[in-house]
Amino acid sequence: MSKIRVYELAKMLGLSNKDLMQILEDLGVDVKTHMSSIDAETAQIIEESLGEPKTKDKPSDVKEKGKKVVNVPPGSSVSDVANLLGIKPADAVKALLEAGKMIPAGATANREILDILSEVFNAEFVVADSAQEEQEKDKAKSQQRKKPEGKNLQPRAPIVTVMGHVDHGKTSLLDYVRKTKVTEREAGGITQHIGASTLEYNGRKIVFLDTPGHEAFTSMRARGAQVTDIVILVVAADDGVMPQTVEALNHAKASGVPIVVAVNKIDKPEARPDRVRQQLSEHGLIPEEWGGDTIFVDISAKTGVGIDQLLEMVLLVADMHELKADPTVDPRGVIIEAKLDRGKGPVATVIVQEGTLRVGNIVVSESSWGKVRAMIDDRGRNLKEAGPSTAVEILGFNDVPSPGETFKVVGSEKEARTLIDKIKQEEKLAASKTERHMTLEELYGKM
Ligand code: GTP
Ligand code: MG
Repeated sequence: MSKIRVYELAKMLGLSNKDLMQILEDLGVDVKTHMSSIDAETAQIIEESLGEPKTKDKPSDVKEKGKKVVNVPPGSSVSDVANLLGIKPADAVKALLEAGKMIPAGATANREILDILSEVFNAEFVVADSAQEEQEKDKAKSQQRKKPEGKNLQPRAPIVTVMGHVDHGKTSLLDYVRKTKVTEREAGGITQHIGASTLEYNGRKIVFLDTPGHEAFTSMRARGAQVTDIVILVVAADDGVMPQTVEALNHAKASGVPIVVAVNKIDKPEARPDRVRQQLSEHGLIPEEWGGDTIFVDISAKTGVGIDQLLEMVLLVADMHELKADPTVDPRGVIIEAKLDRGKGPVATVIVQEGTLRVGNIVVSESSWGKVRAMIDDRGRNLKEAGPSTAVEILGFNDVPSPGETFKVVGSEKEARTLIDKIKQEEKLAASKTERHMTLEELYGKM
């Protein structure tokens, strides 16, 4: 069988080497470089299918009139683009053929393809390139963030926050998970609300922060505390993406926390899970199945469909981020809830992030300190020690600390007092500076 080199064929057909190689690749023909050769039969098929490269005859009356603006997720195929345009994939392929490009519907729609389609179908394509860039940035950020220190790094459980729009099912999801996945209580232990639930799935732990919604998340972030490893973004499949969905995803993105999307309420007849995918793609969350890197799981917090898969995906994302901590370094963590209990005094739920917290330790947060008298977990058990990614209620703080405050352990009560005094002085100084600044501004305002 006779053969022809790619560059020779390209010349014959009036194509650039690159374009021809793209066509060959799309057809599944393996060529390494433009010096590679292909058999004459393949060459002929390509030649015939391209035919006479037609001059693009666009109906001039439609041009510029009511141009449709379409957001195209990166990695979209020709048929994805056709769907976005509301035309048949076959029509898109035909239009491309007429423009001299033999491109299968499954091929990725590159800039050149989009240019042709935009002219033929009078549309403007906005490729979510910037969104992808942003995703890359976020990824870099999350890799930088919270680098664990210490020599004895060990895998730790992921800490998950559930976020989403009002009524989309955050509480229902948490309830379902708690009801079905929190392992049997220890004898005598009573499940109690401490602000976080720890569940075990396939023998591995996942910590869910119980405060759904982004208030908690935001207040922690405002203080620079980062406790969440993974955000589950709940979007109701009947309602679709709503303002708070976008707000939540922006918060998560800004802090570089990976997002797993739970498309909820798929038991409902009016559920449209693919619309959710489309809508979130426009915000830079491109589903894996569309060539992006965001995991989407269809679930029902009512029937339980998909919840196992969701938990598996959470663990997968945790693995990808290699969450580790050193249980032997000085303990530190974050306050996630705190209140004044009449009988017990100040009670704070904390997440230990590094080291191992022990009863008797002296803890100092940003506004309070105390000696740990007792630690109680979400199943009502008294713990003597709590390692990384453990949520515990602590008794012993002298004042009620605020959620989002970080804490660490110091060697003595004296050290704790000195530290708190220093923090309070710094705060006072900062406050007086702001005051003075505001007065000046007021002055200028009046002038
Ligand atoms: P807020 O806390 O008010 O923001 O709402 P939420 O996101 O916690 O939603 P919640 O779990 O309270 O659910 C809102 C409503 O949707 C309730 O009536 C739930 O019963 C219902 N719901 C939640 N999940 C599902 C689901 O998967 N399927 C169906 N059919 N209904 C659901
Ligand atoms: Mg709720």
